[in-house]
Amino acid sequence: MQNPEVVMIGLGYIGLPTAALIAQGGAYVYGVDINQSVVDTINRGEIHIVEPDLGQAVKEAVSKGFLKADIKPVGANTYIVVVPTPFKDKNEPDISFVQAATSAILNLLKEDDLYIIESTSPVGTTEKMMNFIYEKRPELKGKLNIAYCPERVLPGNVMHELVFNDRVIGGIDEKSTQRALDFYSKYVKGELHKTNARTAEMCKLVENSSRDVQIAFANELSLICDKADINVWELINLANKHPRVNILQPGCGVGGHCIAVDPYFIVSDYPMESKIIGTAREVNNYKSFWCAEKVQNTKLKFELDFGRKPKIALMGLAFKPNIDDLRESPAKYIAQRVLQNANNEEYYIVEPNIQEHNVFKLTNYTEAYQKADIIVYLVNHKEFSTLPQSNEKIILDFAGVNK
Ligand SMILES: NC(=O)c1ccc[n+]([C@@H]2O[C@H](COP(=O)([O-])OP(=O)(O)OC[C@H]3O[C@@H](n4cnc5c(N)ncnc54)[C@H](O)[C@@H]3O)[C@@H](O)[C@H]2O)c1
Repeated sequence: MQNPEVVMIGLGYIGLPTAALIAQGGAYVYGVDINQSVVDTINRGEIHIVEPDLGQAVKEAVSKGFLKADIKPVGANTYIVVVPTPFKDKNEPDISFVQAATSAILNLLKEDDLYIIESTSPVGTTEKMMNFIYEKRPELKGKLNIAYCPERVLPGNVMHELVFNDRVIGGIDEKSTQRALDFYSKYVKGELHKTNARTAEMCKLVENSSRDVQIAFANELSLICDKADINVWELINLANKHPRVNILQPGCGVGGHCIAVDPYFIVSDYPMESKIIGTAREVNNYKSFWCAEKVQNTKLKFELDFGRKPKIALMGLAFKPNIDDLRESPAKYIAQRVLQNANNEEYYIVEPNIQEHNVFKLTNYTEAYQKADIIVYLVNHKEFSTLPQSNEKIILDFAGVNK
């Protein structure tokens, strides 16, 4: 490979597609990942994640020599950090991966380079990394371009959205913002919106918190309606006939690695101010607990009514419909909780989007439906809408399959 122009640190769900896209645009991209098997896979022109059109893009970029992966970075003009930012115990964000990635390039940075963080980060992370860099490399103070540019793509449509979504770009000064904007404008067709680093960081967190709060409202309605003996799905449908009302759908909680995680980045730094955001997290978590309790109570009532143990089908484990991703999944949490309380009942665990699971023994959804007395819909997977609505079954529909 010729001298790389871009070093992409972190070659996961976001870093690899971004690296492939930039390489397809004709820039030499040096991808860095601490996972040797990820590096080897990419250098063979293959991919380690499931994402439509990514395989072809990586294969082309690698075979033409525009993309190469390694476990250690080399010098370039632009460095992009796209490593995980999980949360630690007590729901505090962990930016140690960002710091480790930054440490790895400290000695490679030179005057006028562009350093961008794309990882979802607590407010102030970009400034923290700037201070960290300038502390170790004081001769570069004020001479680097440092910016934050969050990612908001939808898994499954990443290659399209990377190009066509609008992006928010916030530098630590005007020059940095402009340099980052010039960089992204080479491959993004969506609008590029300029701001400062702190606003860009908060923008990403607020987008996911907004979704979380709105889902919490729907989940709260589902609890109220259950007590009031009102069909929540019908209620929301009717309320949404109001021209200025748009209530989201309830579910069995909120999961995934973004919406269920990012609000804590705000709550942990601004606990006194983020009352609604914090409460929304509690409501959405409580909804999962409530669903598990509901299964437990229904099971006990069945035993009293019929004098025998019920057979129970738990339908869906993924964190949202029609995907195979179980990260932070409320459905998985409910299944675990229900199984912990098992007392010789027979259970069928269903997840049509995965073949096998290391903890749960999976059953085909039609077989589970036929055999079970109690059907618990945890996820609104498309397969479930093809099942009959038998009056002989007890249905707990937390996902709106039969709405
Ligand atoms: N996946 C999404 O849909 C999505 C959407 C928007 C934002 N984000 C954010 O983007 C960031 C990355 O997410 P992801 O889904 O791509 O994560 P991922 O886990 O798929 O990939 C991260 C990669 O970084 C590597 N890595 C960890 N530490 C490293 C280091 N010090 N140096 C080099 N490589 C290192 C890991 O081995 C891994 O391959 C996170 O902050 C996430 O919140 C993700």
